[in-house]
Amino acid sequence: MSMNINMENITISTDLPLYLPVVKRLSEQLGIVLSSSSNGDENIVADLNDQAYALIVDEHGISLHPNDRRLHGPIRVDFNNGANSHRRRFGGGNGQAIAKAVGVSGRFFPSVLDLTAGLGGDAFVLASLGCDVRLFERNAIIACLLRDGIERALYAGRDHPELRDVMGRLKFLECDSADAIKSLTEEGRPDVIYLDPMFPHRKKSAKVKKEMQAFQNIVGGDEDADSLLKLAIDCARYRVVVKRSTHAEFLADLPPTYSLTGKSTRFDIFALRKIPS
Ligand SMILES: C[S@@+](CC[C@H](N)C(=O)[O-])C[C@H]1O[C@@H](n2cnc3c(N)ncnc32)[C@H](O)[C@@H]1O
Repeated sequence: MSMNINMENITISTDLPLYLPVVKRLSEQLGIVLSSSSNGDENIVADLNDQAYALIVDEHGISLHPNDRRLHGPIRVDFNNGANSHRRRFGGGNGQAIAKAVGVSGRFFPSVLDLTAGLGGDAFVLASLGCDVRLFERNAIIACLLRDGIERALYAGRDHPELRDVMGRLKFLECDSADAIKSLTEEGRPDVIYLDPMFPHRKKSAKVKKEMQAFQNIVGGDEDADSLLKLAIDCARYRVVVKRSTHAEFLADLPPTYSLTGKSTRFDIFALRKIPS
């Protein structure tokens, strides 16, 4: 089942009065419904009955919950926890396919422009590897979750120098990449452009992890991704990297220079110029 989510079937709520100002500001910014308690007082509570998704604000930040709990669990961006913290500590490792794909080496740390930021997972890995990463995201709900995750990680970074350094290499902008890339100056051109668009034909299956399900429901398919690839090839200094699922066709039907293929993910590399050694 595929849902079309728009701002009318998302609510925002908190059950903690402390967060009311945040909730009110976000509801205005995002143009989404504020879910209020039946007695009409200021203590706003979740009312998920007829809404497809709810943004909930609590002491852990902002999280996205599907109304139908069978779809997937809550989604929240947490750069200081679990997998992300592990990646930071144990590497980011040059051995990772993504490092090879963007051309990170002991001597070269490319500047990367991530045109499809999503929840920032890939950008965070690249920043952990030592790359300066600009990341663009156009979907307002996804951008809201990402911005919240970045703000909390910057705050946590006060006690974790390693995290602070990584977060210092990430620069997020909410915008449409197709517009933003056209206004880059010559100095603003990145070494590498990274693209991980939604794949319109990805099937839903039990194997699809919860983040991907949320993307499918909230973002849908990035139908304009083909044109983004062409803009990227005109802009990047050294290479463009496209992340696909292993058996997906090439983006824009354009064969890459070469691919790095893993069990479930493939990186298609468009090599434009030799990376400095
Ligand atoms: C599959 S997700 C990316 C996941 C990401 N790599 C991660 O690690 O979380 C694709 C994202 O790209 C965003 N996107 C697609 N086209 C875009 C564009 N032209 N400008 C900005 N964001 C775009 C979508 O809104 C979606 O959030």
